[in-house]
Amino acid sequence: MAGTETWVLASHNAGKIKELSDILAPFGIALKSAADLDLPEPEETEDSFEGNAGLKARAACESTGLVCLADDSGLAVDALDGAPGIYSARWAGEPRDFGRAMQMVQDELGDAADRTARFVCVIALARPDGSMAHYRGEVVGEIVWPPRGEAGFGYDPIFQPEGETRTFAEMSAAEKRALSHRGRALALMAAAELGA
Ligand code: IMP
Repeated sequence: MAGTETWVLASHNAGKIKELSDILAPFGIALKSAADLDLPEPEETEDSFEGNAGLKARAACESTGLVCLADDSGLAVDALDGAPGIYSARWAGEPRDFGRAMQMVQDELGDAADRTARFVCVIALARPDGSMAHYRGEVVGEIVWPPRGEAGFGYDPIFQPEGETRTFAEMSAAEKRALSHRGRALALMAAAELGA
């Protein structure tokens, strides 16, 4: 692939930008972020991960004329009919307090026997020709209580992936990425779009 292509990640999250830049660099693709290009952040008005990732990617693509990626992710708890789901960030309120959001998950679960949950990440890729692709990564696990571990972010301290004895917050970043919803969605995108 020629070394001149530029893609955009419609995100202001420095961690996501670094992770994706590292994946794209070997393919000669430079990544710019929403912050680099001063792009507005559209409101997430859709009712699915696919819808919200898609609207962010499409808006950035229309502003820049470049291939644009966006992701939408969250925690879906089976016994709560998939909540907090697309509202995962909003459950933490403003300013963000994930201690409170994790307590809400535990309170709503109560003594439910089924504590199964999954993290979901959908990456949308919008092209200037109007086409769009979606890549969905999931990791299944269970909600543990009390929270354990200091690493990661968000709901990591209460999520223990299937077959593991540690929560995401008790793993290194590399260990988490090898199992995570975001890592899986990125791998699917890289395989389909880059032949990686
Ligand atoms: P967004 O996709 O950046 O809007 O993130 C949605 C929300 O989902 C985050 O604020 C977190 O609450 C939650 N979330 C998404 N991925 C993870 C993760 O890997 N660990 C913990 N929480 C996550």
